Amino acid sequence: MAATQDRYSTAQIVLHWLIVALFAFNYIVSDPIAEAFEAFWEEGAAAARAAGPGLAAQAHVWVGIAVMVLMVVRLGLRSTRGAPPPAGTGWLARAAHLGHLALYGLLLVIPMAGMVAWFQGEETAAEVHGVLVNLALAVIAVHTAAALYHHFVLKDGLLGRMRP
Ligand code: HEM
Ligand code: HEM
Repeated sequence: MAATQDRYSTAQIVLHWLIVALFAFNYIVSDPIAEAFEAFWEEGAAAARAAGPGLAAQAHVWVGIAVMVLMVVRLGLRSTRGAPPPAGTGWLARAAHLGHLALYGLLLVIPMAGMVAWFQGEETAAEVHGVLVNLALAVIAVHTAAALYHHFVLKDGLLGRMRP
């Protein structure tokens, strides 16, 4: 970790909220790709390819790949530019660090599993993809609750670190 400034850089803040938006988009727009993937298995690759994946399914693929690429950029920024020091101390600081680590890992592995499922027609990877998305949602729920707790209960201005 490099610097110990009290805010994330503008680039880090933009990436945080852009990735939140892209993740939400892919969570919401997932039925078409799930249907296209099912067609691949039930009607066979030829039939699925002839019908061609719809625009929404393709959007899911490319938005998801964008999340993965932007996460790599974000990790690069974090390793050169650093991050603000932990807000709490002791096990809470460790929990926050572990939570962030889990988010980085999940946001890299979820698109990878999706790619293996989609481009290789791999059913196990599709299941892993779905399970990890749900796991990420649980971590995000705790992450969001923690951020709001800092803002409304502790009133320590933590949200300001990530505010544009
Ligand atoms: C942040 C990135 C992503 C999120 C949040 C996400 C989310 C989701 C969700 C919620 C589903 C529905 C799961 C279900 O019905 O059980 C799904 C399905 C699917 N996604 Fe993604 N996805 C992401 C990235 C990708 C990428 C990059 C690809 C491929 C290049 C992909 C390919 C698929 C496929 C093939 C399915 C259908 C199979 C299945 O149900 O798991 N996803 N995705
Ligand atoms: C409304 C919802 C959200 C709020 C208010 C929020 C707020 C924050 C804040 C204040 C931080 C800085 C924490 C600190 O310095 O200790 C942070 C970091 C982080 N957030 Fe969020 N966040 C939200 C949603 C999300 C979502 C949906 C994701 C994932 C898709 C996410 C991923 C991350 C990651 C990975 C970090 C760690 C950054 C780093 O240290 O490199 N956040 N968030």
